[in-house]
Amino acid sequence: LGLITIKYSHRIAGIQLSPTLAIAAKLKEYKAKGFDVIDFSIGEPNFDLFANIKQAGIRAIEENKSRYTPVAGIPELRAAIQKKLLADNRLSYDASEIVVSSGAKQSLFNVISALANPGDEFIIVKPYWVSYADIVKLAGATPVFAESDEQFHARAALIEKKITPKTKALIINYPCNPTGNTIQKEELAAIAALAIKHDFYIVSDEIYEHLTFEGTHISIASLSPAIKQRTIVVNGFSKAYAMTGLRVGYAAGPKQIMQLTENLQSQVTSGASSVAQYMALAALNTPREELQEAYKLLQKKRDLAVHLLKEAGFSVSKPAGAFYVFISIQDFHMSSQEFAERLMEEQHVAVVPGSAFGTEGYIRISYATAEDTIRRGVERIKAFCSQVQ
Ligand SMILES: Cc1ncc(COP(=O)(O)O)c(C=O)c1O
Repeated sequence: LGLITIKYSHRIAGIQLSPTLAIAAKLKEYKAKGFDVIDFSIGEPNFDLFANIKQAGIRAIEENKSRYTPVAGIPELRAAIQKKLLADNRLSYDASEIVVSSGAKQSLFNVISALANPGDEFIIVKPYWVSYADIVKLAGATPVFAESDEQFHARAALIEKKITPKTKALIINYPCNPTGNTIQKEELAAIAALAIKHDFYIVSDEIYEHLTFEGTHISIASLSPAIKQRTIVVNGFSKAYAMTGLRVGYAAGPKQIMQLTENLQSQVTSGASSVAQYMALAALNTPREELQEAYKLLQKKRDLAVHLLKEAGFSVSKPAGAFYVFISIQDFHMSSQEFAERLMEEQHVAVVPGSAFGTEGYIRISYATAEDTIRRGVERIKAFCSQVQ
């Protein structure tokens, strides 16, 4: 047959496998070998689907809701999101300014693609969620990284240092994956002022909004009409409703940009899964008390994880939201990748290296797991640390 030369796309070859998915693969491998693996790498809540959401899925199947849906989402869901944005975020959008997608990740891809031209720069605050930089590259633009302060809080003054005439947008995420930090109103206002002064967009990833344990979540778009006009809010159902596998997200923003995202989505994936959209609709009607109960449990796990990690000798403060703790491993004189790999090999604990978030010297621990698992996992980390110190 002879060998053929593979003439691949340089653009796609420049994209890496999402590091968290790569860790998930390693974890599976160790589990298959029969090891008792502790998974601190998961990016999803561990509570079950709420009963009303399950029922809505069953009903949708029984009612044969299996056909194509409008590209931007079923009208009932767009209307419910419109109501949600007004009630929770004080944001008034026309339904045509809301586009439902197959997950916040797709919404981010849609929005960034709709804004990007070659040479455009997208500022990303470090530490950042793993996919932003690759999505920007995939869209043909250039990621530019801004530092955050010593406690990893996003700061307008540090973002400002990275602004150039080529800055097209700033991507912010709060509560933040991987640090759990949120952004206070004054800082949001200072960031908004930069966007207005230097004429760039803000892509605001608010997917952990409901998992804010300290203070209240404020959408940057709600600060003024001027900033709303320059902001695209991205959100979804994965984290707040434990619907990661159902793949429903959405974005809301200026009509012309949202129209471009709809056009793009129409050529790539079409509307999101019909059954999942009915489940998302039910999710928005979940009684608040049930949601609060699930979130309180997560908060308890946060407190436990922080307490145990402190006892184990790590210097950590309580993250304001999400379900992660980002801890320093600088005392151990190895890269975060090596630390994560050896922790997996020697103690069978999966964590995500800080390098995946653009920040060396740290690891991310997800505490969205059983309390007993948190205890056993931290014990093993402690054992590993005393061995390598
Ligand atoms: C900050 C952030 N944005 C977006 C996403 C993607 O969410 P979805 O499952 O809706 O695609 C994640 C998932 O890990 C995330 O952590």
